[in-house]
Amino acid sequence: MPTRILSGIRPTGHIHLGNYLGAIRSWVSMIDQVDERLFCIVDQHALTTAEDAKDLRKNTLTIAAAYIASGIDPVKNHIFVQSHVPYHTELAWYFNCITPMGWLSRMTQFKDKAGKNKDQAMTGLFVYPALMAADILIYKATHVPVGEDQKQHVELTRDIAQAFNNYVNTNIFPLPDPIIKSETARIMSLRDGSKKMSKSDPSDYSRIHLLDDDETIDLKIRKAKTDAEPIPGSAEALGERLEAKNLLSLYSLFTQKSLAEVCLEFEGKQFSEFKPKLASTLIDHLSPIRSTMHELLADEASLLQYLKKGADAANAIACKNMHEIRQSLNMV
Ligand code: TYM
Repeated sequence: MPTRILSGIRPTGHIHLGNYLGAIRSWVSMIDQVDERLFCIVDQHALTTAEDAKDLRKNTLTIAAAYIASGIDPVKNHIFVQSHVPYHTELAWYFNCITPMGWLSRMTQFKDKAGKNKDQAMTGLFVYPALMAADILIYKATHVPVGEDQKQHVELTRDIAQAFNNYVNTNIFPLPDPIIKSETARIMSLRDGSKKMSKSDPSDYSRIHLLDDDETIDLKIRKAKTDAEPIPGSAEALGERLEAKNLLSLYSLFTQKSLAEVCLEFEGKQFSEFKPKLASTLIDHLSPIRSTMHELLADEASLLQYLKKGADAANAIACKNMHEIRQSLNMV
C-alpha cells in the first residue's frame, strides 16, 4: 500500500522548539521514505480557543515559513492551509454524526482546556478531535507523525475510521498509525522539567521560539532552571533531575550524540559551564532557519503562491475522496 503522511500545527502563539523537534524536524527526516506528504497549517483548529486566534493571519504565515525554512520543499510536498480545503469541515460533520459523545469527553486535551466548567466550554473545542480525524482521513493518510500529546487524538482517529467503515459497510478509510519518535516525543519546559514545552505557558522563558534572536536564545538558556549538582557521568545517574535531563537531551538532539555520550563529555562540570555550549549549539542550528523564515515572510506574495499550490493539490485529492465518501453515504 502506498504511504501518505499528514500532519499539522495550530497557528496559535509562537511556534517553538517543541513543535520543531517533536513535529517538523521529524517530518523532514521521513520525507524520502514516504510516497506522498501533506503538511497542513490547521487554522480552523486555532478558533477553538478564541483567545489564541488573535493573530491568526500572521501566525499562519509564520508556520508556513517555518515548514519551508526547516527543509520541507513546497514544490515536492503539499504545504497548505486547512481552511483552503473545505472538505475537512464537511467530513468532520459526517464524523460528528457517528462519534459517540463519550469518546470525545474522554479526550485529555478537552478535559484540560475545558477545565471545571464543561457546560461553558464551546462545542468547537469538544468536537475538535473529529475535525482532526477529518484532516487525516480526507486524504486517507496512512501515517501521522506527531508528538506524544497528540497520540490520543490519532488513536481516536483510528476508532472513528473504523466506526465509519462499519457504518457504510466498506473499508473506505485506512486506520492511520501514529509515528512518535521517542527522543523528541516530549520536549519539556525550560522552567519546569515536569511540564511539556507549550505555546500556552504564560512564561516566554519556558520555551525557545523559532523566531527568537541569538541574544534571546542565549538569555533563555542562561535562565533555564537547573540544580546545583554537577553533571553525572551517565544518563541513568540523572535519575529524577528533570530539568538537567531536559537540557542535556536538547544538546544531544542537536549534536546527534546519545545522552550517555553527552553525560560523559560533561562529567563533573557545572551547568554554568554547559549552558553556553548548549546556547551556541542551538544558535548555530536555529539562526539559519530564522533568517530564511524572515526572508520568506518578507515576500508574502511568493509564500501565498506556495500555499495556493499546496491547496490545489490537497483539494484534488480531497475532492476525489469526498466523492467516494458521499456515495458511500447514499447521498444524491
Ligand atoms: P499543536 O499545534 O499543539 O502541536 C503541533 C505539533 O507539535 C508537537 N508538540 C510537541 N512535541 C514534542 N514536545 C513538545 N513540547 C511539543 N509541543 C507540541 C505536537 O505533538 C504536534 O505534533 N491537534 C494538533 C494539530 C492537528 C493535527 C491534525 C496534527 C490538527 N489536525 C492532523 C496531526 C494531524 C495540535 O494541536 O498540535
